[in-house]
Formats: sequence, C-alpha cells, structure tokens
Amino acid sequence: MSAQPPDSLEDIALRIVTPGKGILAADESSGTIKKRFDAIGVASTEENRRDYRELLFRSNEAMRNYISGVILYDETIRQKAKDGTPLVDLIKASGAIPGIKVDKGAQPLPGFPGDTITEGLDGLRQRLAEYYELGARFAKWRAVIDIDTAKSVPSATSIAANAHALARYAALCQEAKIVPIVEPEVLMDGSHDIDTCYDVTKAVLVKLYDELYAARVVLEGTVLKPNMVIAGKKSGKKNSPEEVAEKTIKVFRETVPAAVPGIAFLSGGQSDEEATANLSAINAIGPHPWKLTFSYGRALQAAPQKAWSGKTENVAAAQRAFLHRARMNGLASLGNWTTEAEKAA
Ligand code: 13P
Repeated sequence: MSAQPPDSLEDIALRIVTPGKGILAADESSGTIKKRFDAIGVASTEENRRDYRELLFRSNEAMRNYISGVILYDETIRQKAKDGTPLVDLIKASGAIPGIKVDKGAQPLPGFPGDTITEGLDGLRQRLAEYYELGARFAKWRAVIDIDTAKSVPSATSIAANAHALARYAALCQEAKIVPIVEPEVLMDGSHDIDTCYDVTKAVLVKLYDELYAARVVLEGTVLKPNMVIAGKKSGKKNSPEEVAEKTIKVFRETVPAAVPGIAFLSGGQSDEEATANLSAINAIGPHPWKLTFSYGRALQAAPQKAWSGKTENVAAAQRAFLHRARMNGLASLGNWTTEAEKAA
C-alpha cells in the first residue's frame, strides 16, 4: 500500500483558517515564557513549561472544536508529555496541526536606532527539514515594526529589510512543504493614533506583498498574521470595535490579494475581551475575500495561566478558562460573539 500523499500547501492553509477555529500561539521563547510564569509565581523550569503546555493540548473540548493549529517553540516540539506521548501527537490527536516558530528574534537594525530586523535565515533550510520530520506543517516568522513618529521609526529601510526577510523565509518554507505564517507585527506599544497605525500597516503590507511576489511565494499556500489597526496603548485612546474593524478591513482590501486564503490576527497586548470583540466586529462587516481568525498568544492564555498558577489541583480550572476563551474567539471568527456569550462562562 502506498503512503498517503502529503496535504498540499493550499490544503493546509485552508485547514488553518477553518471557519470557527483559529491558532493557539504557544511559541513563547524561553525569555517570554519566563516573564509569563514570573507573573503567576511559577519557576520557568523545563518540567513546568511542559506541564503547562500539556494541560493546554489536553484540553480536548477546546482543542477539538476551536483550535486549528498550534505554534510551538523549538523546545516544545521535541518534548514528551508526562506519560511519554510526544506533545506533537497530543496536538495531532485533537485534529489540530502542529506549527513551529522559526525566527530567531528581532535585533537592533544597525544605523537605525529604534528599528529592528528579525534574524534566523542562516541554516533555515536545514532546520525546516528537521521540523517537518518532527511533524510541523506550518511555521511562523515575526517581523517587529515599532512606531515612534518623533524618531522617524519605522524607517523605510527597516520595512524593506523585514519584508525581504519574510519573503526569503516564506519561500524556504514552501520548498520544505511547510505553510509560512507571515507575521509583520506593527506594535501597539506607542503613543500613536489609529490613523498612524493605519498608515504604517499599509506601508508594511504593500512592501511585504511586493517581496512575496518577487520571491515567487505561492500566496494560496500562505497565511497572513497581522496586527489590527488600532491606536497605540500610550495614546490614552480606546477605539470602538467598529472603528478598528472598519480601518483594519480598509487596509487589507487595499493591500492583501484575494489569493491569500486567510488572515489570523495576533493579539499584541489587547485585553482578552478586546481582542475577541474586535475580531467579531471585523467578521460582522463581511463577507470578506479572506477568512479572518485568531492566532492569539496572550489573549488565549492569560486566563488559563492565572487559573493554573503552577498547581496540579488547578489543571481542570485552567482548562475551563482556556475552553471559554477558545470558544469566545471561535464565535468571533464567525462574527457571532456577544457580551451575553462572554458572561455565560
Ligand atoms: P500575542 O497574541 O500575545 O500577540 O502573540 C501572538 C504571537 O504569536 C506573536 O508573535
């Protein structure tokens, strides 16, 4: 009997954006997960990191119904559950697709104070081949674009360099039969208003799709992971979900080809409920040419992390908290989230 042919890049990309489902971004680097664990008073040991992620991947109802894919960190894709089952197998058993973060983080861009360039292209072909063997069928690379207009950040040089690196990464992924999640994150940390976010996001996406075309990336086999168009946290302004939705969709209609099957947002420091409400408002003004869903880290995990707090006796409560957020975001991916559903925990 011949082996099953591997799914095509297009099939995998479409599965990632299955209506009602989205991505669990659980790919925090060792430094980031330590920050999250510090906040709940848990030591960031390899065992604690394993136990925590195992409880998420064993949240059967959440995983089966609302999670299409999980982004893992290098340590996690190699880890085994307490009973010896590879964590990757837990994810696959739930019907979700294992993915892997492959960038090596953002470093200062020389000559451009305040700008960064994401590193990790050297040796990427070999790493992708190994990750494929370990079960990864999609990958993630995050470019980081800060906004500080007083300092001319971001520079055109940083936007171009990051878009070029994303395109090089995406082409290497497709060669390895891995769907690239292309993440150009315009940060919401600054004091800028929503229109500045719109302008910068537009410049970034225009350059990104230029570079993806130039690199011969097949757009049907990609997923975009962008920020929403939203005012910076230090601006003191809160935009309504309707305003975020209108400006976010406007920028995508102007820049993201309809050949792209789906867009999976990062939460970027929005509160849990804000990230859900905004996603739902975005879908409520559809139909759109692409599926729009979540690829949330903090907005899916803050509640379960707090509920868990490192204690075995809290695992069930943490799984309930994860299920609730996953269900709320599943509703939002259909434009059907309501405050009533939110409260009926
Ligand atoms: P947040 O949703 O916490 O922004 O994380 C998503 C992610 O993967 C950022 O790269």
